[in-house]
Amino acid sequence: MLTINKVSKTFGGLRAIDDVSLNVKQGQFFGIIGANGAGKTTLLNLVTGYLPPTSGTIEFEGKPIHGLPPYRVAHRGIGRTFQITQPFAEMSVLDNVMTGALFSSNGARRSLQEARAMCDEPLRLVGLTAQADLQAGALTLGGKKKLELARVLATEPKLLLLDEVMGGLTRAEIEDLMISLRRIHAAGTTVVMIEHLVHVILDLCDHVFVLNFGRELFRGTPNDVISHPEVIEAYLGKPLTAAERA
Ligand SMILES: Nc1ncnc2c1ncn2[C@@H]1O[C@H](COP(=O)(O)OP(=O)(O)OP(=O)(O)O)[C@@H](O)[C@H]1O
Ligand SMILES: [Mg+2]
Repeated sequence: MLTINKVSKTFGGLRAIDDVSLNVKQGQFFGIIGANGAGKTTLLNLVTGYLPPTSGTIEFEGKPIHGLPPYRVAHRGIGRTFQITQPFAEMSVLDNVMTGALFSSNGARRSLQEARAMCDEPLRLVGLTAQADLQAGALTLGGKKKLELARVLATEPKLLLLDEVMGGLTRAEIEDLMISLRRIHAAGTTVVMIEHLVHVILDLCDHVFVLNFGRELFRGTPNDVISHPEVIEAYLGKPLTAAERA
């Protein structure tokens, strides 16, 4: 579905992404881990058109997308969330989600009524149906993260890219959001998730890619990855205890 082929990105003298190749298949729940500054967000920015690659190619469903502006990448069916959520605080939860339906590929042709009808399923998937009429600014951080997810889902993405969606959440909020993510994936969306929390990756992902200083360190199943000596040294610091794996 998504093919990143020998992609590099340099910022001046810094190789933030260095010759990375990876393949995400339809239906996968794909995790990307790596230390702070490893290049995870940069990789997402390259896929979504916020940055052009210095070299290499990126294809989605067999067609090149590198060099396209972000809105055209979105219209191809790639949705993303940002590390810092910024809902329209003065607008209702529902109106925020409607912006997704109105600014997606067929959005301009939709009536407000049609856009409204497209919000039910995203709100249900993230568990915000009962909060639809609340002002977005009144939501907790966990609620805002769910709202951002619902807004992206209203664009009807085939591929959803998540950048540390669990960042700053309480344990209970993380558990809750994991249920939503499982539901979203089960409903047919392919997911690529950047995440620091190893237990979240172990629980949700079927495939994990480890970035280290912009390069591939390892890839495999979650259990392969956490048993791998180099990953333990570069990323985890020490082997996970049984409790951390659970
Ligand atoms: N626009 C930019 N200009 C210059 N340097 C950048 C730019 N964006 C990222 N970098 C640098 O590229 C490297 C990778 O950054 P990136 O944000 O992709 O890391 P990350 O893996 O997402 O980290 P974190 O876990 O902290 O979110 C860092 O050294 C960062 O300072
Ligand atoms: Mg980042």
